Amino acid sequence: MKKIRLSLFLLFAGVSFSLRAQNNHQSKGFLATTPTKPVSFFEPGQIWRDNNSVPINAHGGGIMYYKNTYYWYGEHKIAGAIGNTGQVGVHVYSSSDLYNWIDEGIALAVNSTDPRSEIAKGCILERPKVIYNKKTKKFVMWFHLELLNKGYDEARSGIAISDKPNGPFVFVRSVRPNMEQWPLNVQDFHKKTVSKDIKKHYCGGYGCLGGDVDSLNILGRDFKQGQMARDMNLFVDDDGKAYHIYASEENSTLHIAQLSDDYLSYSGKYIRLFQNRYMEAPTMFKTSNGKYYMLASDCTGWEPNAARSAVADHIFGPWKELGNPCVGKDSEYTFRSQGTFILPVQGKKDTYIYMGDRWNPQNPIDGRYIWLPLNILDGHLTLKWKDSWNLTDLKF
Ligand code: DGJ
Repeated sequence: MKKIRLSLFLLFAGVSFSLRAQNNHQSKGFLATTPTKPVSFFEPGQIWRDNNSVPINAHGGGIMYYKNTYYWYGEHKIAGAIGNTGQVGVHVYSSSDLYNWIDEGIALAVNSTDPRSEIAKGCILERPKVIYNKKTKKFVMWFHLELLNKGYDEARSGIAISDKPNGPFVFVRSVRPNMEQWPLNVQDFHKKTVSKDIKKHYCGGYGCLGGDVDSLNILGRDFKQGQMARDMNLFVDDDGKAYHIYASEENSTLHIAQLSDDYLSYSGKYIRLFQNRYMEAPTMFKTSNGKYYMLASDCTGWEPNAARSAVADHIFGPWKELGNPCVGKDSEYTFRSQGTFILPVQGKKDTYIYMGDRWNPQNPIDGRYIWLPLNILDGHLTLKWKDSWNLTDLKF
């Protein structure tokens, strides 16, 4: 009798354990998995699996290199249209070779208990990026934040901090950049009194001000409350100064803003650039000859468009547009992707990888990653499609 009771107990415990394991996977939106075999190539647009054989879930992401390890942070998406909102948080993976990624879990979780939290479950949390501050020894995350049930109206930036690269990150606050600060290239007309009639002009992520951004003076409109910031990136210069690059003024104009020394706020120095060009998805990097390059997109919601590129000798400009770096079939759609980060490959001088997202707004968890070698030829960026490639294909 005792034996029967013991076997019944073991059977019940086994079933309940396996159900719990399945639920854990399902709560992340995945099926149960087995370990994956190591790979040594990139296959843009194909499913890319982590160490547990689960598709990597780090969209709109960016990479930080720390102590011989790459950390890939990105938006954790779930299935269905609701997956375009922040249901889980920021996922982080680690890798030593860029091909094989270990799931390090959720670096920053949305708040699923308090709907009044600025990062309440269901908010919009996009394009997270992490940088390491050598002075404070903290890992600092910035992301585009839209408060719960406010659409894309708030245009805020969220800041989180951690002692470890894989988190957990603690949410610090959200901001509208550069409150009561004029950019270095402000013009006199910006400082004139702005009519209260200038309303919100947002219309679904597309360029739609219906007028010249300067005649509307969106910069002046937002002077007191801080500037709008949607698509964004971070860049750390050789001198340790960090910059926040963001789509501002109803997406019509990019800003490059220097951060404070602890990377948690602004120094007050910033410029506006590419007025009326409606650039989204800005990315920036610097070559060994001191040139700053930018790669960005046009503004067409989740639909792909032709990439833009630009170069400057100084981070605060002047910046010169260089055109679409893509060559060949689908170049006018950036190979059906939108950039998210330019990754300098460690140990290989002037060697860069274009990281982009092929969005799937109906089922965002199935958005794909487009990683391609980014070359610089005669001072211009070029990006060509490859079905499969590896780091030995990179020119340097
Ligand atoms: C394009 C942006 O690049 C994405 O991050 C996202 O904000 C979509 N627009 C929303 O339409």
